[in-house]
Amino acid sequence: MKPFDRINYLIILLSSLMILGCTHDTEYIAGPAGADGIDGIDGHDGLDGVDASAAVCIDCHSASHRDPITTSYILSGHGSGGSWARGKSTSCAQCHNNEGYIDYLSGQFFATDTSGDQNEFLLDEAGIPILNDNDTPGNPDDDFYEPNPDYNPDYGDYLVDGNGGLVPMVNPNGYAVSNPISCTGCHTDHRSFDFENDGNDYALRNIHPVKLVLDPMVSIDFANSTDPLGLSNACITCHQPRPSYPIPTGTEDYEITSSRFGPHHGPQSTMLEGIMGGIIAGSTGYPGVGAATHRSGSSCISCHMGETTDGNDGGHSWKPTLNTCVSCHTTMTSIPEGIAGLDEDMATLKTLLLGLDPSPLLENDRTVPGTYPANVAKAIWNYKTVMEDNSNGIHNPEYTRALIKNSIEALE
Ligand code: HEC
Ligand code: HEC
Ligand code: HEC
Ligand code: HEC
Ligand code: HEC
Ligand code: HEC
Repeated sequence: MKPFDRINYLIILLSSLMILGCTHDTEYIAGPAGADGIDGIDGHDGLDGVDASAAVCIDCHSASHRDPITTSYILSGHGSGGSWARGKSTSCAQCHNNEGYIDYLSGQFFATDTSGDQNEFLLDEAGIPILNDNDTPGNPDDDFYEPNPDYNPDYGDYLVDGNGGLVPMVNPNGYAVSNPISCTGCHTDHRSFDFENDGNDYALRNIHPVKLVLDPMVSIDFANSTDPLGLSNACITCHQPRPSYPIPTGTEDYEITSSRFGPHHGPQSTMLEGIMGGIIAGSTGYPGVGAATHRSGSSCISCHMGETTDGNDGGHSWKPTLNTCVSCHTTMTSIPEGIAGLDEDMATLKTLLLGLDPSPLLENDRTVPGTYPANVAKAIWNYKTVMEDNSNGIHNPEYTRALIKNSIEALE
């Protein structure tokens, strides 16, 4: 209870007795009826202030309301997925460990610049300073090493992002244990108890826009008319690509340095937003950033945490629920496997990639390290992005089609 200690919390309840009318907002929950309240104060038109507002709290805070939530959570990947064992190390803990995630959002730890050199240069992945040829490749005399813009003597040796902010990280010493994300990982304290005017933030730990780790100059904000407080921003920190490899851009050859090349492992937020693909010009147009209807008219939580159809989907099972889809797709009777034609297009793209000499891809979808033309690297990045997104194109049908169809065209 950071912003409100228990006394303040009581004061809030008491003052609601004096000033609030019936603020009953049961839209969100169909919980059991609250217990009878204290009689209203004379002169206030007999409004049962405490009765009404305490009932709102109890509806959501009662054990009977929470038990089914806990059951779904435990069965979900968030409660019992195997990848949570990975969260002991610093590089994985922000997404695979409850404590690491909390530390990352707390801003108590910052990424340090381990090279520790005031005259440092930007290094490539192999640790070699990056040479800038000053746009005159033929003339080595005016070449210079790219200075590291992250070094900022005023802050000591912390990494600074493009907006001058310190780059957050998890406890640099790592963690002895790794726990799955728990109730109090995602939830903490309410920012306001005035749900009528401020909306209910469900006490989520983060509803702010999130700067992407692959490029902190880019931030995503999923607030829209269906999610005015931006509750889906709670998902972005983890469901975004890791900063393992730069996205291939431009026309220069690209060096693939690992057999795991691609956006590890949850590029769902960037896919929904329609960004961070390997952009290849072609006959299929790319939709505008944030323009997909699934992005502007629905959200992570509306599709994945909507009202359940049979008790096994929606809410804290995080399984998409048909109830959300039919608000737009009025004739849909079950959630489709994916968007039309994607399976065929993915197979075509894979065949094309496997047919290249040398082939950058293996049958098991691992990559072959080596230096490749830009379009080949982009095509693999796109193939892996659609695969890792795991929605078979549903998150952003048009962006997915453009990435895959234009990749096929470029290789044909
Ligand atoms: C729609 C659901 C909902 C409603 C309504 C609601 N809360 Fe919460 N509240 C939560 C969730 C979820 C948490 C996160 C912590 C948890 O799981 O208990 C939380 C956390 C809290 C916390 C801090 C954690 C703790 O347990 O000490 C307090 C205090 C709190 N709520 C008080 C209230 C009060 C007072 C009201 C009514 C004015 C209220 N809540 C209404 C969902 C709700
Ligand atoms: C930016 C957040 C983020 C970071 C950092 C991260 N992961 Fe993940 N990882 C995810 C998400 C999200 C998923 C689940 C994706 C899904 O279900 O579609 C995942 C899935 C996985 C999986 C299961 C996927 C599979 O193909 O079986 C493994 C294993 C894994 N991560 C290992 C790691 C390791 C090891 C590290 C550190 C070197 C790491 N991750 C760092 C977000 C991250
Ligand atoms: C991965 C993040 C995450 C975890 C873990 C999580 N929640 Fe939530 N919870 C949310 C989000 C996001 C919402 C808002 C959903 C919405 O608006 O439909 C929410 C909503 C709620 C609500 C109010 C809506 C409702 O269904 O009544 C309650 C109560 C709640 N959570 C309790 C819990 C409890 C108890 C746990 C642990 C068993 C838990 N949550 C774990 C993200 C999480
Ligand atoms: C702390 C990081 C973190 C946060 C925050 C988070 N997730 Fe996840 N999520 C993961 C990881 C890691 C997995 C993979 C777990 C596994 O299977 O090992 C996952 C799995 C999933 C899955 C697959 C579920 C399954 O049962 O296999 C869905 C869907 C999902 N997340 C949606 C969401 C949504 C929606 C939100 C926001 C409300 C959210 N996540 C918030 C890390 C996170
Ligand atoms: C238009 C509805 C919709 C929206 C919006 C949406 N999803 Fe999905 N998502 C789906 C569907 C449908 C699937 C297909 C897999 C399924 O049926 O479980 C899916 C798949 C996933 C998976 C893979 C699940 C698995 O079992 O491996 C993850 C993780 C996920 N979504 C997370 C998110 C996150 C995070 C957001 C917000 C950035 C989001 N989704 C937005 C509908 C949606
Ligand atoms: C806010 C309205 C809305 C909601 C909610 C919604 N969709 Fe959509 N969906 C659309 C629109 C509009 C399109 C057309 C593409 C576009 O405009 O981005 C679309 C496209 C699709 C497509 C692509 C069809 C194709 O092959 O081109 C699939 C599949 C789909 N939606 C599935 C779902 C599923 C599954 C859900 C629920 C989990 C869902 N949608 C929720 C509006 C919605």
